[in-house]
Amino acid sequence: MKPQAYVFDAYGTLFDVYSVQAKCEEIFPGKGADLTRLWRTKQLEYSWLRSLMARYENFWKLTGDGLRYSCQFLGLKPGQEQMEELMQSYLALAAFPETGQVLEKLAGFSRVILSNGTPAMLEAVVRHNRLEGQFDHILSVDELKIYKPHPAVYQLAVDRLGLAKENIAFVSSNGWDVAGAKAFGFTVYWLNRPGAPVEELGVQPEAILKSPLELLYIP
Ligand code: 2OP
Repeated sequence: MKPQAYVFDAYGTLFDVYSVQAKCEEIFPGKGADLTRLWRTKQLEYSWLRSLMARYENFWKLTGDGLRYSCQFLGLKPGQEQMEELMQSYLALAAFPETGQVLEKLAGFSRVILSNGTPAMLEAVVRHNRLEGQFDHILSVDELKIYKPHPAVYQLAVDRLGLAKENIAFVSSNGWDVAGAKAFGFTVYWLNRPGAPVEELGVQPEAILKSPLELLYIP
């Protein structure tokens, strides 16, 4: 059955977290790829750990903490200005090429962002990519003070949309987020661009896609 709304993860799904690599490489030639990868890994690790520890800090803080850890781990010593430049690049991530086209094609449905990002981070990256007006809701975990994949996060979309879980299509590139959303009860589509294996978390998405454009052809 066709969903009544599409709920999208932001980082890695609509926006390319690896688009900070150019700035990382500019500041630390030869270390851009390592820094970008470790930065994303630590940002996410801290979100899971702080949820388990019940010691919430917002995603802007965790993004900065992950960057500081990654620089220390890699023996990099950015100045205050360079740190600021790197952090600002997170507000200007590039949308994936298909993002705008898919959102336009889905204009007949409610379109929602559901993300760990703070409202300010999400508004900035949506504005940077000129996608204002493409979303009916931009939902941040910040009002809950707990991160994905806690079920309360997915419940936020149900509460805002007033729809049954099964009538909501959830789209994410992050296998761990896909597992959380499926365990919660959404209809889930995994945007698996790199062809990674399904996470061993006891649930399977409805479909595995290479491009979000495939959403348009799901019966
Ligand atoms: C999100 O946007 C972190 O990709 C994750 O919620």
